[in-house]
Amino acid sequence: MGPTRVPGLLFGGDYNPEQWPEEVWEEDVRLMAEAGVNVVTVAVFSWSRLESAPGVLDFGWLDRVLDLLHAHGIAVDLATATATPPPWLVRRHPEIQPVDAAGTRLEFGSRQGYCPSSPVFREATVRLARAMAERYRDHPALVLWHVGNEYGDHTVECYCEESARDFRRWLQARYRTLEGLNAAWGTSCWGQHYTDWTQPAPPRKAPGPVNPAQVLDWRRFSSDALLACFEAEREVLKEVTPDIPVTTNFMSLLHHLDYWKWAAAEDLVSDDAYPDPADPLAPLKAALSYDLMRSLKRRPWLLLESAPSAVSWREVNVPKEPGVMRLHSLQALAHGSDGVMFFQWRQARYGPEKFHSAMLPHGGTDTRQWRETLALGADLRRLAGVAGTGTRAEVALLLDWESWWGLEAPESLPSARLRLHQLLLSWYAPLHRRGIAVDLAPHGRDLSDYRVVIAPNLYLCTTEQAADLAAFPGRLVVGPFSGVVDAADQVHPGGAPGPLRELLGLRTEECWPIPDGRAQDVLAEDGTRLVARTWSEWLELDDAQVLARYRGGPLDGRPAVTRRGAVTYLGCVLDDPTPVLDEVLDAAGVTGVTGAPLPEGVEACRRGDHLFLLNHGAAPATVTLPAPGADLLTGRPLSGSVAIAPRDAVVLRL
Ligand code: GLA
Repeated sequence: MGPTRVPGLLFGGDYNPEQWPEEVWEEDVRLMAEAGVNVVTVAVFSWSRLESAPGVLDFGWLDRVLDLLHAHGIAVDLATATATPPPWLVRRHPEIQPVDAAGTRLEFGSRQGYCPSSPVFREATVRLARAMAERYRDHPALVLWHVGNEYGDHTVECYCEESARDFRRWLQARYRTLEGLNAAWGTSCWGQHYTDWTQPAPPRKAPGPVNPAQVLDWRRFSSDALLACFEAEREVLKEVTPDIPVTTNFMSLLHHLDYWKWAAAEDLVSDDAYPDPADPLAPLKAALSYDLMRSLKRRPWLLLESAPSAVSWREVNVPKEPGVMRLHSLQALAHGSDGVMFFQWRQARYGPEKFHSAMLPHGGTDTRQWRETLALGADLRRLAGVAGTGTRAEVALLLDWESWWGLEAPESLPSARLRLHQLLLSWYAPLHRRGIAVDLAPHGRDLSDYRVVIAPNLYLCTTEQAADLAAFPGRLVVGPFSGVVDAADQVHPGGAPGPLRELLGLRTEECWPIPDGRAQDVLAEDGTRLVARTWSEWLELDDAQVLARYRGGPLDGRPAVTRRGAVTYLGCVLDDPTPVLDEVLDAAGVTGVTGAPLPEGVEACRRGDHLFLLNHGAAPATVTLPAPGADLLTGRPLSGSVAIAPRDAVVLRL
């Protein structure tokens, strides 16, 4: 049983009863019970209904909702209701509304209208969280606290004067003195030397490019400022209800928040995932972010929101074809989720999300959607034994948010085309195709469990981080433009790869971005032809050996891929690094979970002694099984191989 104490897998969704007359609630709970829903998220946007004026609290309706749910055996992930400050608070304190980089204060009328640094906002959230916790501390339905909602979705940062003051406090704690700040920000450049602590400010819209070191600190600060909002509420919840786990719903691979830090502050990692049904790469991208969720605490996590079918916030919102909701749900389980939850239970009749799909659609129960909801509930009951089981990965991808922020800083880099998500995917895709389990890992984590560690990019790499990598006993692969700057975004003496130079046995004499649309041939020493795009480097080798060289172009004949001992370096972005990777994996003895090649479109993952085989492809696929077992979804005993129809899946208990 996981931290929520709900037996088996969690199944349910966001439930917004305040959008419906009370007579509908009876039908809701009856249908929830019919579908096997065992948990719902309640009160995410209910602040203005719970507190209609300062200190005027009305919990009556929420009491009735929780009692009704409990009477039908449905547990509650209770939100602290702080995701939208109510109109009375905003009108009394217009200063809590966020301000954008150009200085415009944003209006009320949407959600997340708050400045993360506003003491008025923070105090009001803490008061409400305390009132909620005291009210429901002993309610038997309460199994999980849901703080805020999707931090960093609409409001990532605020540039107001209050935020500026908070930023200065944060800077003072980091640098102590103005000299320290001036040195770290390199303010001798472009005449930015600060002489008083009232002068440094958020990187607001300026006539030209803003100091990138200032922007990097702003990213750190903004992630911390939102985290402080979360932590302020969590502290109260922990004081009043120490045994109820606390989560906040993450947003997959979100650029703006350092989820390593955030995950450390919560009891259970939960994620909202919305793979686009129209994107052929959706299963790949989802797999990567689910592996991140599992890796954040190296424990099962929870898919807290996903779309039963179409969303409402893309320009074109394509529904999920029959079977896809089930397949995508099973995928989250395969990658470590202990449940499947949706946004939302009942489809709304009004508001910006009235066309967003729901478990129970506008059309009611005589619909394909509802039939698929019922069927999924039944499948999840068959898979109850999956809950709590873990994944053993021998390969890790290094992911560091600070480096990501530095790499994607605006207007100061040799190329704006190096995007971390794409770089991660380019390594993850061939691993995924081979059914190899992958963790993501931050700097500082003990890597000794892994045979192979891949750092797709480490633009920002400190001397300590480099020393940790040098101590890794397995095979290491480092991607281009790594070891470039220190924690203050200052180029390491001598240039890249800075503190990684000895480990890689080379130096990057010049960065050589490849113009858009141009392909650069690369020839491996064994004759394999590769293609680089976006990025290449003029490398000078110390004691590294050459694995591949550029062929033609400005770097003709120069090294492109190198090796020193167990460390491989790529000075370029390869279209498909599979040949380089395969060689490393084979040398390390890493194999996929089935031990055999997988047919196109099939994903294979192992959790405990459960083998998930998911056919995302459009054609039937036959998969060789590593051992006999029973398919938990159908009860069939299987051995040898199994044919899987398009969009179908097998969950084998080995
Ligand atoms: C996120 C939010 C929900 C809802 C959905 C729509 O998950 O948390 O409130 O807006 O997106 O996809």
